[in-house]
Amino acid sequence: MDKIDAPKRKVRDYVCTVLALIALAAILVGVVVAFRSVRDVYFDAVTLVSSGGLVFLLLLVNYVVMDFCGRGDAISTIFVYTILLITEVAVIMCLHFGYAYAMPISFLPLILGTSFHKRCAFATHFTSISIAAVFLTLFAFYNESFAIHDIAMQVMVLVVNGATGTLLTHMIHRYASRFRILVTAGVIVLISGVIGFLSAAAMGNNPDVMQMITVGVSLIVGGAISIFAYFCLIPIFERVFNLNTGLRLTELCSFDQPLLKELEEKAPGTYNHSLTVANIAERAAYAVGEDPTLARAAALYHDIGKIENPEFFTENQTDGYNPHDELIPEVSVKMITRHTEAGAKILEAKGFPKEIISAAIQHHGDSSVGYFYHKAQNITEGTLEEKGYTYLGPKPQTKINAIIMIADIAEAATRSVRPSTLEELATLIDNLVRSKMNERQFDESPITMAELTKVKKAVVSTLMGVHHERISYTLDNKRK
Ligand SMILES: [Fe+2]
Ligand SMILES: [Fe+2]
Repeated sequence: MDKIDAPKRKVRDYVCTVLALIALAAILVGVVVAFRSVRDVYFDAVTLVSSGGLVFLLLLVNYVVMDFCGRGDAISTIFVYTILLITEVAVIMCLHFGYAYAMPISFLPLILGTSFHKRCAFATHFTSISIAAVFLTLFAFYNESFAIHDIAMQVMVLVVNGATGTLLTHMIHRYASRFRILVTAGVIVLISGVIGFLSAAAMGNNPDVMQMITVGVSLIVGGAISIFAYFCLIPIFERVFNLNTGLRLTELCSFDQPLLKELEEKAPGTYNHSLTVANIAERAAYAVGEDPTLARAAALYHDIGKIENPEFFTENQTDGYNPHDELIPEVSVKMITRHTEAGAKILEAKGFPKEIISAAIQHHGDSSVGYFYHKAQNITEGTLEEKGYTYLGPKPQTKINAIIMIADIAEAATRSVRPSTLEELATLIDNLVRSKMNERQFDESPITMAELTKVKKAVVSTLMGVHHERISYTLDNKRK
């Protein structure tokens, strides 16, 4: 039944998307008509239908590219086209009020480049520039005071804006800090102003200095408006569309977060464990070229599901009471393994980014809960199937989730084994990673052997820092 319904639903989704894109094209052309009619400029039906059709085709091609990149889902589509709508309405307003050189076109590549799929960001920026060109033609065609020279200048401005947006998308990293985004975008916008100034000089036989300054300054003003709008609106989009930008991740790592406060209050042992796992994961992620802030945020919340039954986990048992003493192993295993799914549900309900949710659900993979399996085996005749004594999985699907798995077991094991030398600690971590490899827990993650070696080094050096008071740095301490 599901198999029959799935393709049907897909076709229905495509039809809905096409209808929504037709509506969006109509809205955009409608905004142009509304602005021009204020000045008694009316378009004929053929112009309206053909420009509307062209805008729709551009929107459709953009959707096909997004779908090809695996971002054709409803939320991504609504997000991308909302940004596109905002950008194009701003473009229309600039064209209408005579500030065509100051169109804030860079707003779109800034938002999509820092929070969305890069290739989709490039494609949508190209679509945005093409639609702006359609509107520019509409405005120019119905405005007799427009000179060919003006049109050429504005096309040049579109080209400079196109290059600026491409550079912004390419150069600003998704997880870049607020300061870095501001500086990089600011420098690129300034360069675009200089290019606009020089291009204006190159375009006429008799370069008009005022025109050159107007174009250069307007391009900088348009860029500055884009940057300002980006910083004002990104927190809203992060919340509404669950984006995991660097800004959002930094916010989630703050100890002010209500969920972290709740973890500290209900499960202090787990909270402290999560802090150390976060420190390890952050350093290990940096060592293998993954995003340290994402690793830190994901590690901080990896055991959040334990707030539902904190007393069932050893790190929270301070008064000597262990509820597992009164339970059969099968029930104990269920109480323990459910924290991965419970965590994912809590994070989902709070609108956390999907990368953080995936770490909560994948950090134990489908490992067995060895202690309770052996406890059950001891009271069972014959060989007991391990299947009912494992986490539900899936195995880590990303490098960061594999790192969190290692950081998690390394922290817990170091607390219970208490190695006293660097050598003992390094051997312990090596054995832990090997045991997870033997269980094939890293088979579905793209992490390589070379990266695992770097992760092990990062784990050892972080844990040395955490337990420096009791772990000796001397390698041959044991032999003395
Ligand atoms: Fe866990
Ligand atoms: Fe953990």
